[in-house]
Amino acid sequence: MINKVQTMKITKVCKTREIVTINGMYPGPTVHAQEDDRVIVKVTNETPYNATIHWHGVRQRLTCWSDGPAYLTQCPIQAGQTFTYEFTLVQQKGTLFWHAHVSWLRGTVHGALVIYPKTGVPYPFPNPYEEHVVILADYWFKDLQKLEKRVLASGGGAPASDAYTINGHPGPLYNCSKNDVFKIDVIPGKTYLLRIINAALNIELFFSIANHKLTIVEADGEYTKPFTVEQLMITPGQTMNVLVEANQPIAKYNMAIGPYMSAQFVPFQNFSAVAHFQYSGVSLTSMALPAPLPFFNDSLPVKNSMNGLRSLHATNLPLEIDTDLFFTIGVNVEQCHSRTPNKSCQGPNGGVFKASMNNVTFVRPSISLLQAYYNRLHGYYTDDFPEVPLKTYDFVNGAPNNIPNNTQSLNGTRVSVLEYGARVQLILQDTGIVSTENHPIHLHGYSFYVVGYGTGNFDPMTAEINLVDPPYMNTIGVPVGGWAAIRFIADNPGVWFIHCHLEVHTSWGLSMAFIVKNGEGPLETLPHPPADLPRC
Ligand code: C2O
Repeated sequence: MINKVQTMKITKVCKTREIVTINGMYPGPTVHAQEDDRVIVKVTNETPYNATIHWHGVRQRLTCWSDGPAYLTQCPIQAGQTFTYEFTLVQQKGTLFWHAHVSWLRGTVHGALVIYPKTGVPYPFPNPYEEHVVILADYWFKDLQKLEKRVLASGGGAPASDAYTINGHPGPLYNCSKNDVFKIDVIPGKTYLLRIINAALNIELFFSIANHKLTIVEADGEYTKPFTVEQLMITPGQTMNVLVEANQPIAKYNMAIGPYMSAQFVPFQNFSAVAHFQYSGVSLTSMALPAPLPFFNDSLPVKNSMNGLRSLHATNLPLEIDTDLFFTIGVNVEQCHSRTPNKSCQGPNGGVFKASMNNVTFVRPSISLLQAYYNRLHGYYTDDFPEVPLKTYDFVNGAPNNIPNNTQSLNGTRVSVLEYGARVQLILQDTGIVSTENHPIHLHGYSFYVVGYGTGNFDPMTAEINLVDPPYMNTIGVPVGGWAAIRFIADNPGVWFIHCHLEVHTSWGLSMAFIVKNGEGPLETLPHPPADLPRC
């Protein structure tokens, strides 16, 4: 079980560095559970850094205090402190994950959360012969807390990562990594379930296996209608279960990941991490067959795999809505106010990178929003987050103010308050202020139905809305230069963060929070905080 946040020396791609881990493991330990289990995890921080753990995709019914995002639902667990997370996996099964939720710590502090169906309940697909967790990540030589600080202080963009990894292994294409390879041994004729998790900080990834098809049966911990693809794209924050049939001649096949980078001007590593899908009986020295990946900015396979994501059963989908929200999402550039612009204004046109929702850059408060809300403390936030953009403009092709010179956003800790039980539709609209980009937007505390998406500016007259079998997800890659429409019923009281799961965008403020009010009676009311809740 997860319990200790520790530092550890690790050598990857010819370099040794110290990383933050859980229990000295990279990736961290897998948490196994069953639907409706109560999970209790005591976390002791033995590092000098602030830490928290977020249970990504866990809906935290009435347990907002255990959600984990720093300064949203708790203060960080400081050096030497302990905090116990406690929650129930109410009607949840499938693959989710956990990760640190403070600074860029989750780059190395992450692991799988595998939730099996209740005893005696089968999968809605043929039982696989074996199951494997496959965690995809980006790896950095630099200390990630310092890196975040340095990026923010520079005003410029984040550098490219130094490697991609599959279950912590970069694979043989990287220097010094011939033997640092993840492998799955397979028996011809058997079917394997891969629980794929994108835990990367700053990169969306393509995934494929040479000569093998992938049948998606679950996304973000919810069953989907089976859908077969050659390659899939998975954003940071998403999880996908795929079935792979070992139906090819005996050989060693590459399992590869590579970048999907839809934005312009962003440095990234255009390289592949490779693992092996190898048949028993293959000679160890035999060459591995290459796995083809799409070109880094090819959005067609992204659209294709999205089109195929359909809920197996879309229960509790709101057909009617009473709260209609429209948020723009994107990156901005703020004017330089520094006396040392060469040092601190390295963004486009000598400005400072920011990001925003509805042109508001989220500023983290000094105590957690949930504490401020629960204790009715004034001065930490305002409840005037705009329901629609303050200015309407050509979102995809233009900037809000004096195009193209002024791309400022407003700074603030603004939240949007939802009535208990509100049936919410939220349109997420990408902007092209700096560059259009596929943004993986993640909502805490809920899964949502992705009822529509498309390219260009959202137009209610022409948008196609699926109210039959939309996928039920917790993270949606909003199409580059496009929009996505999501729906959920706000029936879980608390403070719920919504943000871009590209970590640098969260650092720049591409986030906001919903406060969902209590309903009536104890089953609709957030209980009081746990006694060991960390102090700021
Ligand atoms: Cu996976 Cu707010 O995060």
